[in-house]
This record gives sequence, structure tokens and C-alpha cells, in this order.
Amino acid sequence: MAIRRSIVGIDSPDRLAGVLRDAQYLADDELATSAYLALALGKPLLLEGAPGVGKTEGAKAIASVLGRQMVRLQCYEGIDSAHALYEWNYPRQMLAIRQAGNEYVNIYADDFLVARPMLEALQHPADTVLLIDEIDRADHEFEAFLLEFLSDFSISIPERGTIRAQQHPVVVLTSNRTRELHEALRRRCVYHWIDYPAPEREAEIVMMRASQVAHDTAWRVVAAVGALRREPLAKAPGVAETVEWAEAATLLHEQGAPWPTAFKRAIGVVLKDQDDLAFIEPRLDQILEGTAA
Ligand SMILES: Nc1ncnc2c1ncn2[C@@H]1O[C@H](COP(=O)(O)OP(=O)(O)OP(=O)(O)O)[C@@H](O)[C@H]1O
Ligand SMILES: [Mg+2]
Repeated sequence: MAIRRSIVGIDSPDRLAGVLRDAQYLADDELATSAYLALALGKPLLLEGAPGVGKTEGAKAIASVLGRQMVRLQCYEGIDSAHALYEWNYPRQMLAIRQAGNEYVNIYADDFLVARPMLEALQHPADTVLLIDEIDRADHEFEAFLLEFLSDFSISIPERGTIRAQQHPVVVLTSNRTRELHEALRRRCVYHWIDYPAPEREAEIVMMRASQVAHDTAWRVVAAVGALRREPLAKAPGVAETVEWAEAATLLHEQGAPWPTAFKRAIGVVLKDQDDLAFIEPRLDQILEGTAA
């Protein structure tokens, strides 16, 4: 089955992984399969995982390979429909009424409607990928509302009636799992847990994202980050931190710092918590030694 709303040629998870790679995103087989199925079946893709494992970047890469614009709704506690759906441009309505004098003015015309990400995705389902980022930060009320949206892809605007999408938009949801999502929401989606990448894949990501980093350096950083992730840290480093550590250490090395020192001096791009730093500092030499080729 080729992906609906078809982008020619993406007829298998392998093929999707290939074009994602061209867009500088390395998906393992399971992620490529989930993403492929979500696209092929027209279902939302729910990506869950620790911070920095590539959830948001995955959505961006999917938008890029589909040749669509990514419309992002960043969730937070207290997010409401005005931020997610639409707002009326109140000052503009007021101005129009004043300027119209005694004339009739339709203050609910398109000119006054400010589309927020969810409405925008409904209005342009063929051209957008809707990213609902960090849904676990929103409250349960918003999640229930989202569930409704994902069921029938329509929005009711009291002054305008119901706006229904001509086709299902592509939707990617992400969660850091700071809380469990509703069963009903999960059921609507194709679910994938993104784990930290295997060392080979992470080294490949480092070299792909930071082309100036040497192969050996990438491997050492990946091994060190792997060791850090096994420590009881408040904030374990994500893939972004791995890439940055490799870049930063390479830079310091080019400026004359010898190897283990360059890694050590760049530790501030990996650990960003005072207690974590204090805890790791006495162990860092040993961790880096364990990575030496
Ligand atoms: N599979 C991957 N292929 C290529 N780059 C990746 C991949 N995974 C992660 N990265 C790199 O890691 C960075 C962080 O990823 P991203 O911001 O998507 O993480 P996240 O899971 O959304 O994190 P958070 O929960 O903190 O928002 C990306 O900018 C990218 O450089
Ligand atoms: Mg993110």
C-alpha cells in the first residue's frame, strides 16, 4: 500500500526511512514502520520518549519528506482553544465597526478570524503536517478536546458553523510522558516509543548533524553519553547533547586542548544541572577512559 495523499514512491517503511535519511533524520526500522503505517492508514502518529530523543525533529522530517509545511502547536499547562483553534481579532473588529459608521459590517468574516494551528491544519489538510508537541503538558480537559478533534477533524465556530477538513490532515503528537495519556487518545493513534538510539545509530546521527566531527570522536562521545545515561542523573543527556558535545569538544581540540581535556571542558553542553555536574565530576575521568579507542 502506498501512502495516501501520496508522495510518489513511498511504498514501504524502508523507502520512508530512506527519504527521512535524505532529510537528515535517521529512523530505525520500528519508527519508520510506525510512521509509515500512520501515513498509510491516515491515523495520527503518537511519539513518546525521553527528552531529546528526536520526537519533534521526527515530525519536522516527516513534514519535509512530504513537502509540507509543519504547523506546530506547543502545548503547555492551561492551553485553551483560543491558542489551539482560532481567535477573533478583537481590535480589528472594533476598528472596522468604528470605520463603518452606520454601515453594516460582518465582523465574523475571514478577515477577522485568526487561525491557530488546529484550524490551519483543517483549512489546508493537503499542505500541512500538524505537530501537537508535548501533549502531556496540557491538562486533561484539553486532551479530551483533542480527542474529539482527532475523531472527526472538524471545528465548530459558533459564529460561522462547522469547518470540516476535506481530508484527514497528517498529525504527529509527541509526549515526554510526564504523565500518562488517556487510553482513548492512544487508541486513535499509531503509537511509537522512541528510545535512545543504538550506539551505531547515534554515532551516525552525530556525524550526519556535525560533519566536522571525526569518526573516533563521535564514537567516544556516544560511549561516554551512554555511560552517563546509566548514571542516576536528574536530566539524562538526549541526542542533541551528544551532537553538541562532539561539536564542542572538536572545537576545543582544534584550538589546542588535548583529547580527554577537550571532552571534559565541554561538559557544560551535556550536563545542565548543578547536582548532576557535581555528581559526575569525580567520575568523569573514568567514564572517558572507558571510551578511549
Ligand atoms: N533520529 C535522529 N536523526 C537525526 N537527528 C536526530 C535524531 N534524533 C535526534 N536527533 C537530533 O537531536 C536533536 C533533538 O531532537 P528533538 O528536539 O527532536 O528531541 P525531542 O525528543 O523533541 O526532545 P524534547 O522532548 O526535549 O522536545 C535534533 O535537533 C537532532 O539534531
Ligand atoms: Mg521536542
